[in-house]
Amino acid sequence: MMPIPMTTSSAKTMVKVHPFLTVRDLHITFAVENGGLQALQGVNFQVAPQEFVCVIGPSGSGKSTLLRVIAGVLQPSRGEVQFSYEGDREVKIGYVFQQANLMPWRTVVENITLPLELHQVPVEEARRKAMELIELVGLEGFEQTWVQELSGGMAQRVAIARALIQDPDLLLLDEPFGALDALMREQMGAELLRIWQARRTTVLMVTHSISEALLLSDRVLVLSARPGRISYDFPVQLPRPRQEALRYTPEFAHMSQQLRAEILPD
Ligand SMILES: Nc1ncnc2c1ncn2[C@@H]1O[C@H](COP(=O)(O)OP(=O)(O)OP(=O)(O)O)[C@@H](O)[C@H]1O
Ligand SMILES: [Mg+2]
Repeated sequence: MMPIPMTTSSAKTMVKVHPFLTVRDLHITFAVENGGLQALQGVNFQVAPQEFVCVIGPSGSGKSTLLRVIAGVLQPSRGEVQFSYEGDREVKIGYVFQQANLMPWRTVVENITLPLELHQVPVEEARRKAMELIELVGLEGFEQTWVQELSGGMAQRVAIARALIQDPDLLLLDEPFGALDALMREQMGAELLRIWQARRTTVLMVTHSISEALLLSDRVLVLSARPGRISYDFPVQLPRPRQEALRYTPEFAHMSQQLRAEILPD
């Protein structure tokens, strides 16, 4: 396989190599009262460095389970998750959940600096990084706002900034815009694209929306109904940068139909 262009991180010399993430023969069986519940069955895929991949599939197909295994918070029953890069440190993963899960007794900036505080990063440095991210996610002026005063979209921006503050190698997003109304969702999608284009972090994002997946990603992985396995690996061959207007083109409609047929075969 041809290596794709290499990038080095500024923090510590780390050369990313292709592929960045390999998920191999992943099986997850949960112990439940009357035996085992198989959530994932033989999931295989790879993600290249800086790729934006969406995961789509019916409710209960194991999308959140897949992210939890990749994040290392759940052990696979069989198979493995492997990160390949040159360097001697742990892979850094940013995780955004469907609900923003912010700390209500902290302000916007204090929520964003939290992961760095937990790693004993000096306060000044943490603040400086948080301010950069506040600008990136468009929350200037809200630094000192209590998070319970934020709208759903603003809270999700805080969650994204918090996930980005450790310069993650991989950003995992689990239906991050699921709780938002349609217009806010479009706006946040565009925002995420802008952030990804600026940062070039590898992204794996779960969504229920076919159009969101097509507008944002390089590839869409379709998970089958439980037990989840990848039934289709759909390349999104649309040029970048992508604008909202792309949604209304015949090409986009055609791809939406194709992807829909893969998700809901009749
Ligand atoms: N800790 C657990 N113990 C037992 N069963 C679980 C556990 N976590 C998930 N499951 C089951 O595994 C299956 C997959 O769950 P998962 O949350 O990954 O689905 P999902 O694709 O994210 O669904 P949704 O689109 O509704 O978020 C479901 O049947 C769920 O009930
Ligand atoms: Mg889920």
